[in-house]
Amino acid sequence: MKSFVEIAAEIARESGAVISDFARHRVGFELKGTYDLVTEADRSSERLIVERLHQHFPTHAILAEEGGAHDGSSEYRWYVDPLDGTTNFAHAFPFYNVTLALERAGEMIAGVIYDPTRDEMFQAELGSGAFLNSAPIRVTPTARIEDSLSATGFPSRKRHQNVNIHFYYQLAMLSHGVRRAGAAALDLAYVACGRLDFFWEFALNPWDMAAGSLLVREAGGMCTDMQGAPLSLRGAHILADNTALHSEVVELFGEIFAGKQRVPLPQ
Ligand code: IPD
Ligand code: CA
Ligand code: CA
Repeated sequence: MKSFVEIAAEIARESGAVISDFARHRVGFELKGTYDLVTEADRSSERLIVERLHQHFPTHAILAEEGGAHDGSSEYRWYVDPLDGTTNFAHAFPFYNVTLALERAGEMIAGVIYDPTRDEMFQAELGSGAFLNSAPIRVTPTARIEDSLSATGFPSRKRHQNVNIHFYYQLAMLSHGVRRAGAAALDLAYVACGRLDFFWEFALNPWDMAAGSLLVREAGGMCTDMQGAPLSLRGAHILADNTALHSEVVELFGEIFAGKQRVPLPQ
């Protein structure tokens, strides 16, 4: 019998193929909010994932970004982002993914993040480690912010109210660099496999973080909020790091939350 994570990986690969088909002919987009894009690829991918999950697990609940929510009659719930990085996808910028995660009684037990542009399948099961295309992955040993490469993102909704530019500026000045590649689940997968030292963002949705938070922990990293408190998938922010940097990043974020600047803004 196949495991949850194997079935999730199969489904993510199939929906990745659907997305790649759409990518061959540039698709139009619609707006859900001022800068919040959605395309036919998001909807087709979600239809396929929800249908497959129903076939395999008729009693499981599903929470999916494009409206495919279903109540279940068991303790299992799937979190689905059928296309994470839609803005990139709509502009043919090749950094997007499909992500699915399974929670049992409030605990994340399996997660996959699939990048169809590179054919990279990131997957993890609680207690069994994290993998990229079947090879084990691990977070970096980087121990100082000044030696780090990190990533963040900016929300598509109420962007003007977001304070992240202050965090972005300090980190950009105090480290090797900060990337804003535009797909939160892949940012988390990149922390898990050591391509990034840490990642933070405000105002993500549960489906953006569900699989990635399990991957990072299974790869030896930590996931909390930006003040070091336990991560809530419905919380205001996330910090995912390699563990070695955790306290230094939380301390720096604490200063920025308090309105202090280590590096003053240019005049
Ligand atoms: C978005 C991406 C982006 C992040 C946004 C998310 P979507 O997801 O993950 O990197 O900055 O906050 O909403 O809308 O492309 O699924
Ligand atoms: Ca997303
Ligand atoms: Ca999405």
